[in-house]
Amino acid sequence: MKNLLRTLFIVLLLSSCSNDDSELVSYNNPEVSLNIPSDFPELNSSFYTNIPTEFGVELGKKLFTDVRLSADNTISCSSCHIQENAFADHNPKGIGIEGRIGLRNAPPVQNMAFMQVYNWDGNKLQLEDQPLVPIITHEEMDSSILEVIGKIENDESYIELFKNAFNGEGITADGIYNSIAQYEYTLISTNSKYDKVKRNEGETFTESEAQGFAVFQEKCISCHSTELFTDQTYRNIGFPINPDTEEAGRARITGSTEDYMSFRVPSLRNIEYTAPYGSFGQFATLEAVLNYLDNGVLEADNLDPILKDNDNRIPLTAQEKIDLIAFMKTLSDSEFVGLDD
Ligand code: HEC
Ligand code: HEC
Repeated sequence: MKNLLRTLFIVLLLSSCSNDDSELVSYNNPEVSLNIPSDFPELNSSFYTNIPTEFGVELGKKLFTDVRLSADNTISCSSCHIQENAFADHNPKGIGIEGRIGLRNAPPVQNMAFMQVYNWDGNKLQLEDQPLVPIITHEEMDSSILEVIGKIENDESYIELFKNAFNGEGITADGIYNSIAQYEYTLISTNSKYDKVKRNEGETFTESEAQGFAVFQEKCISCHSTELFTDQTYRNIGFPINPDTEEAGRARITGSTEDYMSFRVPSLRNIEYTAPYGSFGQFATLEAVLNYLDNGVLEADNLDPILKDNDNRIPLTAQEKIDLIAFMKTLSDSEFVGLDD
């Protein structure tokens, strides 16, 4: 056995030496260890084909914050996805180059690895397919992937990072998309007060938070369910309608009137940091959202039955609103947004 192994070893050694010009360089690029909470929804299957590595994530983060992804070198992904805002921002609608205003409110980039559908209308099913959209959108970065590659291809730090991240490869479009997605996969928020209470880490809800959680379970959880506080379905809940004629909600993708002005149920994690609210930022505060649901929403043929069967409203008392807001604020993860407790 020992001899056989030794022979094999020598054969391998010889075969690797015999080919002079194939320089065997190995890139040490370990996978990053991620905290995947066991009670979160399943990972998107794309994650397993693009597992975050040390250099992949470093590269993705560098690209995410690089203004050269935009035509006039003024806007990066992180201009609209700001860490202090849980990687959303405070504008009602996204503001891109030359102050151009987009169609929708920027959602927080958090817990993306556990989502099966992306954007307000779910037009992307894989995170790797998403970065090209803002790069080429006129109201966002208004560039092209070739233009971006042209700007960074002679940058030594990028050349080095691509090589390390993708086993010696050069700068490619796929490398850009995959590394950005790898970075985004690492943005996992799981350290809110809610999580700590749930994990019995010594924190407890106040009276108002506990009451709010109870109301939430009664009136909100049929849509804002799972540990992400979204069931990832599309619903029309009769919010004020975006006056932009481009908007049709999920119907933009399916072309079906049944999906007109339906939107993906948003996660409520870190909601405290992401005002204004709604698909085009139509509500300045959480209180405004709750008052609206209580007062009555817009009628629509495809209005969600939960509202339709209840006089187009979710009735809430003043105290319930206070308690719900207190509860929603327990979903704030100060560590995730880079603030210390
Ligand atoms: C001008 C502001 C702006 C810029 C720049 C921008 N985004 Fe966004 N982002 C948005 C808006 C608005 C949406 C929602 C789009 C929609 O639903 O149609 C969004 C959606 C997303 C989503 C989906 C989030 C979810 O909850 O499904 C991801 C991921 C994302 N952006 C990543 C990026 C990356 C990566 C870049 C840079 C390549 C980038 N964004 C640049 C505004 C921006
Ligand atoms: C029938 C499903 C449904 C129910 C029930 C529901 N929501 Fe929502 N919620 C949604 C959808 C869909 C949106 C996005 C709608 C849009 O922008 O047009 C939303 C948006 C929100 C927003 C704004 C989030 C953001 O990031 O912009 C908040 C806050 C919110 N809901 C809280 C609640 C609370 C609290 C309750 C219970 C009192 C509740 N919702 C009940 C489906 C629901």
